[in-house]
Amino acid sequence: MCGIIGYTGTKEASGIMLDALELLEYRGYDSAGIALSDENGGPARIIKRAGRVKDLRLLCEEKNVSGHCGIGHTRWATHGGVSDENAHPHGYGKITIIHNGIIENYRQLIEKYELDGKLKSQTDSEVVAAVLSHFYQGDPYSAIRKTVLKLKGTFALAIMFEDIPGKIYAVRNVSPIVAANTEDGAILSSDVAAIVPFTTQYFVVPELNVVCLSREGIEMYDLSGDKARIDWLTVDWDISRSDKGGYPFYMEKEIMEQPDVINDTVLPRIKDGKPDFTAEGIKDEMLASCERICVIACGTAMHAGLVGKSLIQSMIGIHVDVVMASEFMYNDPVVNDKTLVIAISQSGETIDTLEALKFARKCGSPSISIVNVKGASIARASEHVIYTCAGPEIAVASTKAYTTQLAVLYLLTARMAIARGLWSEDQTKKYMDELLRVPDVMKEVLSQKEEIHHIADTILNAKDVFMIGRGLDYSILLEGSLKLKEVSYIHSEAYASGELKHGTIALITSETPVIAVVTQDKLKSKELSNIKEVQSRGAKVILLIKGDEVLEQEKIWSRIFRLPVMEDEFMVMPASVVLQLIAYYVSLDKGLDVDKPRNLAKVVTVE
Ligand code: AGP
Repeated sequence: MCGIIGYTGTKEASGIMLDALELLEYRGYDSAGIALSDENGGPARIIKRAGRVKDLRLLCEEKNVSGHCGIGHTRWATHGGVSDENAHPHGYGKITIIHNGIIENYRQLIEKYELDGKLKSQTDSEVVAAVLSHFYQGDPYSAIRKTVLKLKGTFALAIMFEDIPGKIYAVRNVSPIVAANTEDGAILSSDVAAIVPFTTQYFVVPELNVVCLSREGIEMYDLSGDKARIDWLTVDWDISRSDKGGYPFYMEKEIMEQPDVINDTVLPRIKDGKPDFTAEGIKDEMLASCERICVIACGTAMHAGLVGKSLIQSMIGIHVDVVMASEFMYNDPVVNDKTLVIAISQSGETIDTLEALKFARKCGSPSISIVNVKGASIARASEHVIYTCAGPEIAVASTKAYTTQLAVLYLLTARMAIARGLWSEDQTKKYMDELLRVPDVMKEVLSQKEEIHHIADTILNAKDVFMIGRGLDYSILLEGSLKLKEVSYIHSEAYASGELKHGTIALITSETPVIAVVTQDKLKSKELSNIKEVQSRGAKVILLIKGDEVLEQEKIWSRIFRLPVMEDEFMVMPASVVLQLIAYYVSLDKGLDVDKPRNLAKVVTVE
C-alpha cells in the first residue's frame, strides 16, 4: 500500500513525479521521496523525508533538483517506522530502488549477505537494494532475476543503476505496476490514475516479468530472459473523474458521482430488459448449478457482500456465507466445486482477498470477482470478473465503489433468478425497473445534503455513536459505522437492534447518539420497539425511515430523515448515501483530512 512512480524522457522528471505522487498519496502518506538521474549517469540524487508529498515538493524546490529520469515513492510504513531514513528511495552501491510490498524473508537475507551494520534504514526494501547490489556485475536483467529468486513476499520494485543512465527497470510479485509509453519516453506507476495525464494506452506488468523503460520505449523479458509480449489496455474512464471537480474533497465528489456511475455500471449490462453478463463470459449454467455461495472480501467490500447475502438468500433460496477474507483460509473453509466464490474488491489488489480467492480456486470453486480497477490482480486471479464502472476512487473511504458493487449484486441476483427459472417476466421487469430508479432516488437524497449536514452536526462532538437496525438495515449500518469511524475518528458501533438488549445496552446513557435505520416493513415494528428501548434510557435517536411511514409512536427520535421510498430490498441505496454524507460532514466540520484519514491507505497489500 505505497504509491510508486517512475518516469524517463526528455522532460524534467521531478515535477512529473511529484504531481503523480500527489495522485498516488491515497495509497499511503507517511513519507515520500524521489531519486533523479540524467544522461550523464552517476549516483542518483535522492531527496526524501517523512511527511506528505507537499512537504517533499518544498524540499525539492529548496534543493533545486533536476533530472530527466527518476523514481518516486509515497509510503505507508510497514517494516521500519516513519522517518526520513526509512522513506524511499533507498540507495545501495550502484542501485537506487523503491518498493511497494512486504519481503517476508528480509532477516534471512540480512544474515545470508552479511548486511548487519551496512544498512542505513530499518526497511526490508533497503535489503532488496543490497541483494541487488550483491548480484549486479553490469547486467541488470541477470541481477534482477537472481535477486527475485531470493525474495519471499510481495513486491513492486522500480530500480535505477547508476551506470545505466536514462533507464528504469521494474519487476513485481502481487503488488501492482502499470506502465505506458509517453510521447517522449515511458512511465510506470502503482495505479493507472497517474498515467492517464500522459496516455490512455497502458499495460499491467505481468508478475515476475522484468520491464526496462527508456526514452525509446519499453522492453519486457520473462524470468528466463525471453522477450515477452505486452498486452495493451485502454483507459475507459475520462480523466475529469480523477480530479476533485471543484469539491473540497474527493469523498464528496465521489458521493455525488454515484447516480452517474451506477448508470455506467448497470445500463451496459441490460439486454431486452434483463441483466446480461455475456460480455463477462458468465453463463447461466454457472449461476444455476452452484449449491451455495461464499463471498470473500474486506471492509466496505465485505459490507457490500452482506447486502448480496440478503438479496440472494431471500430471492434465490440458497445459502450465502460472507467471510472476512483475512479469516477465510484460517477457519477451515468448506468450499468445493459446488460453491460459487464471489470476491469483491474495489482496488482488486487487497492481498487478504487475493490469497483467499486463490485458496478457494485450489479447492475447485468456480469464481467471479467484482472489481473496480481493470486488470487488477484479483480480476486476473478469478475465473470471471465483473467490473464496476465507478471510475477512479481516490478518497480512502469507499463510497461510489460500494454502491456500484451493490448494483452489480442486484444484477447478479436477478440473473441467477432467471437462470434458475424462479422469476416470471413480470417479476423480472418489476425488479429491473426498481433498479433503474436507483440513480434518481439517490439524486433526491443528494438534493437534501444540507439537511443531512445539519443532522451530522448533532454528532459532531460525540465520543461514541451507536447505529442500530435489523436485517438489511443492520448490514448498511455496518458500512455506515465504518465510514464514520474511518473519516471522523469517532468510535462507532453498528449493532443488530434485537441483540442490543443482551448486554451492550448497558452503554446507552442519556445523550448517547443512536442512529436507527428502519426500511424493512417486515422488521419495522420490532425495530421501533428497540428504538424505544434506547430512547427510554436517554439516547438521542437519529431516525432514518422510509418517507411514507406513518409513525403511531410518540416522538421517539430527536432527528428524523425521511428516505425516498423504494421496494424494501432497494432501500439500501438511499439509506447508504445518507450515512455516507453524515460521515463526510462530521469529518469536514472537524477539520480533518477527509480523503486521507490517519493510519489508513486505500489499498491494503499486506496480510
Ligand atoms: C473502505 O472505506 C475502507 N477504506 C476499506 O475497508 C476497504 O473497503 C477495504 O480495505 C477493502 O478494499 P478493496 O475493496 O480495495 O479490496
